[in-house]
Amino acid sequence: MSIVEVEPAVSLRGDVAPPGDKSISHRALLLGAIADGESEFEGFGVSEDTLATAGAVQDLGAGVVVESDRAQVSGAGLRGLRPPGRPIDCGNAGTLMRILPGILAGQEGRFELVGDESLSRRPLDRVAEPLRQMGAVVETSDGHAPLVVEGGPLEPIRYELPVASAQVKSCVLLAGLYASGGPTAVVEPFPSRDHTERMLEVAGARVRRKAGEASVWPVEGLRALSGRIPGDFSAAAPFIAAALLLPGSSLRVHGVGINPTRTGFLAVLERMGARISHFKRRREGGEPVADLEVEASELVAAEVRPQEVPALIDELPLFALVAGMARGESVVRGATELRVKESDRIKTVKEALRPLGIRIETTHDGYRVRGVPTRPKGGGVVNAAGDHRIAMLAAIAGLVSREGVRIEGAEAVAVSFPDFFAMLDSLAVR
Ligand code: S3P
Repeated sequence: MSIVEVEPAVSLRGDVAPPGDKSISHRALLLGAIADGESEFEGFGVSEDTLATAGAVQDLGAGVVVESDRAQVSGAGLRGLRPPGRPIDCGNAGTLMRILPGILAGQEGRFELVGDESLSRRPLDRVAEPLRQMGAVVETSDGHAPLVVEGGPLEPIRYELPVASAQVKSCVLLAGLYASGGPTAVVEPFPSRDHTERMLEVAGARVRRKAGEASVWPVEGLRALSGRIPGDFSAAAPFIAAALLLPGSSLRVHGVGINPTRTGFLAVLERMGARISHFKRRREGGEPVADLEVEASELVAAEVRPQEVPALIDELPLFALVAGMARGESVVRGATELRVKESDRIKTVKEALRPLGIRIETTHDGYRVRGVPTRPKGGGVVNAAGDHRIAMLAAIAGLVSREGVRIEGAEAVAVSFPDFFAMLDSLAVR
């Protein structure tokens, strides 16, 4: 287990270009694998998670080359993936484990997906259930990995998601590409990230979108994709939080995705009084992108409402820290999903911030934090609990504290952001 000591910083200053978006990088490889011909992406986010997807699609018969931040995929065609003769290792990647079965349900053969210890604790019934309704044979081990999919003829369904989940929505929509006879529709309680819908449109699929619902029609084939993957807002978020909290900070974030289904954290921070400006708004590969400028700000408490949760689900650990240093009481409600992430993030966030002196009251579906607008004491040890977002939270907590933090299991950052500590060091003024 690697231990990293994070010393307090005076401020955060400079420029940062976050790695390519993890959600979009997974999808780029998965759609590239079933497209016709060569797909080529720049700005690919290399991480343990996305490399698990590269390995999976290669095992399934698509060609993949990842070099620095470029990824090339030789598509096997819509129905061209083949069982590799051994289990497909999804590692820690929930997105892979949940989205890939939607594609495999349309292939010939029997496929087995396995994951690491944390992934094997996470629920899979949420994808098994709709795929079975479509006619696929799906087996799980009591709702968990290993998951086995046997592809076959699929029927379209109209599926109401019990919880807003982009992974489940994507799984069902991808299976819909193979479901003959009409459109497959997914209805969601609140909007979750829509990268799959956008990418399917670019690949030539017929997609219809209206409030709370997305539908896809079966296709004969998908066009190869190419272009630049936007910077990952979730990777930029720790630096944004640090810049807001450390007096005298000024940070420019270059080329970051600002898809509104991902930037709920920005919306909440703006309500708290954060000074964040957008520049050079543009579109890349069907996604909105911008540069951001962040200035240290005095923040007041905020309430995160259930309908906002999907748009900042991966930033809710960081929100706890920001709220802990904002004036007043902040509340998060409707975030039960945090309990089934890479760790139970309602529990691990509370534990991670306790050594800092930030007290969090947890509830079944969220938490409350009474903020004190001053540097927390710090000086403690935080265990990352095998969760990359908790490791990054601990690092930012150490940076903004008076005595720093010692992180156990800091290597977890490599799941989404291998260069995180190097980038943090280059921005921190000590
Ligand atoms: C993701 C969707 C979210 C998010 C995860 C990545 C995706 O999960 O937490 O980190 O790429 O679709 P859910 O859709 O299950 O909430």
